[in-house]
Amino acid sequence: MPDSPALFSIHAVSAEHVLPLRRTILLDNQSETCRFRGDDEPTTLHVAVYDAVRIIAVATVCREALPGSQSDTAWRLRGVAVEPHARGYGFGRTLIKLCFDHAHRHGGRVAWCTARESARGFYEALGFAFSSPPFKLPSRGDLLFYEMHYVLPGEPISDVE
Ligand SMILES: CC(C)(COP(=O)(O)OP(=O)(O)OC[C@H]1O[C@@H](n2cnc3c(N)ncnc32)[C@H](O)[C@@H]1OP(=O)(O)O)[C@@H](O)C(=O)NCCC(=O)NCCS
Repeated sequence: MPDSPALFSIHAVSAEHVLPLRRTILLDNQSETCRFRGDDEPTTLHVAVYDAVRIIAVATVCREALPGSQSDTAWRLRGVAVEPHARGYGFGRTLIKLCFDHAHRHGGRVAWCTARESARGFYEALGFAFSSPPFKLPSRGDLLFYEMHYVLPGEPISDVE
């Protein structure tokens, strides 16, 4: 093993750590909307990739039923954002895999997200699918969003009370 510093590291972090990237990359610097319901729930996971000096990619997963459902086995991905210079290295895929693992460990059966049109291909590359037409969100102008779903593989396990 070379005795050299790591180029990148991945950590579970608190909500405060993911807010800056969420704000700048996803939310046009509107700080009032960058906190999500579920951010501070004890079962929620926030993950971040660090380079030598700062966070360059973030994602969050929290337990949240699909719209119109009451099931507590659905987990929602939120705030998936990678700094432009760090895209294409697999950080997005890796963070989502960690979120899937977390959801699965907590008994999750399905992961879902609201994907903007420009990110739809990313989620499709990871195996997500959508079945309903795109929609707009009142706060997001003309951006189109897709509700995308992914069935978590394997039997659900729950190693956490
Ligand atoms: C979408 C985003 C998170 C992808 O992150 P990333 O680290 O560059 O993605 P990865 O390198 O892990 O790519 C994984 C796969 O998705 C594909 N992919 C990545 N971004 C894509 C896109 N915008 N459209 C289509 N495919 C894409 C990659 O080609 C790769 O496929 P492969 O494994 O078959 O080669 C990143 O571009 C980003 O932060 N975009 C702006 C914010 C955003 O849209 N977030 C999602 C909110 S809904």
